[in-house]
Amino acid sequence: MTGAPQLLDGKRCGDTLKAEIAKGAAAVRLQRGRAPHLAAVLVGSDGASRTYVEAKVKACEAVGFRSTLIRLPETITEEELLSRVHGLNEDHELDGFIVQLPLPPHVDADRITQAIDPKKDVDGFHPVNVGNMVLGLPGFLPATPSGICELLKFYHVETAGKHCVVVGRSNIVGTPISILLSRNAYPGNCTVTLAHSRTKDLPSVTRKADILVVAIGKPEFVTAGMVKEGAVVVDVGIHRIPDASKKAGFRLVGDTAFAEVAPRSSAITPVPGGVGPMTITSLLLNTLKAAR
Ligand code: GUN
Repeated sequence: MTGAPQLLDGKRCGDTLKAEIAKGAAAVRLQRGRAPHLAAVLVGSDGASRTYVEAKVKACEAVGFRSTLIRLPETITEEELLSRVHGLNEDHELDGFIVQLPLPPHVDADRITQAIDPKKDVDGFHPVNVGNMVLGLPGFLPATPSGICELLKFYHVETAGKHCVVVGRSNIVGTPISILLSRNAYPGNCTVTLAHSRTKDLPSVTRKADILVVAIGKPEFVTAGMVKEGAVVVDVGIHRIPDASKKAGFRLVGDTAFAEVAPRSSAITPVPGGVGPMTITSLLLNTLKAAR
């Protein structure tokens, strides 16, 4: 590409949306006499999960929501966790809650997700909300895919008729974003290819993408040779790479080798500061919707 790519700045977009969310929260406080209230359940002490959950709780405070962080031990049984979920379903002081994934291996995450009341499922992971998304019915959209859509909208990225290749078919990101971008809506109306671990000759597939969404969970997996000149690149990954030259002892990278991919792209999300802040913003939007 000639010229620098447009940076799809999730912090800037998220901050703009959060100003609107804060106004919405103030209106809820006036109407209902209490702020929107989100609870986050964190099981165990996984460092990355703790960082994500703490960021979600902090974001709530910044927009005038109430938030509750529920820390539970790694050793909690599935039945005990189910019982906590049932308690949160019945808590009328609470508009929505999330159970941070992954859960310890002895807990069936599907069983937990399915126990959450769909009306409080602000992660949009419950089968009822997934079904509503597929059918285009009202419900909660999963935070990361919905955040990607908000980001594309904010930067007026054209999507109709474009070939979008999604790399990774997770329930949380790859599968739902492939559905959202193929809907008859904006953003949407893309021709979508969902690529995964069994895709043959992945580089030849990704090189066809006008819009490339990478959610494969492998650091710097997508290299320049896998990207078409002028593509829009959305990088969902975030990884800590040991780096002695950094004060923190690590640097953050995405699923895309940013330095070599950016010059080929027309627009690209940075890591950090791209999709990450949008995930949190979408969670706030869902919580406000639940409170309303
Ligand atoms: N783990 C990784 N992303 C998410 C998310 O969006 N919600 C929850 N609950 N867990 C996650």
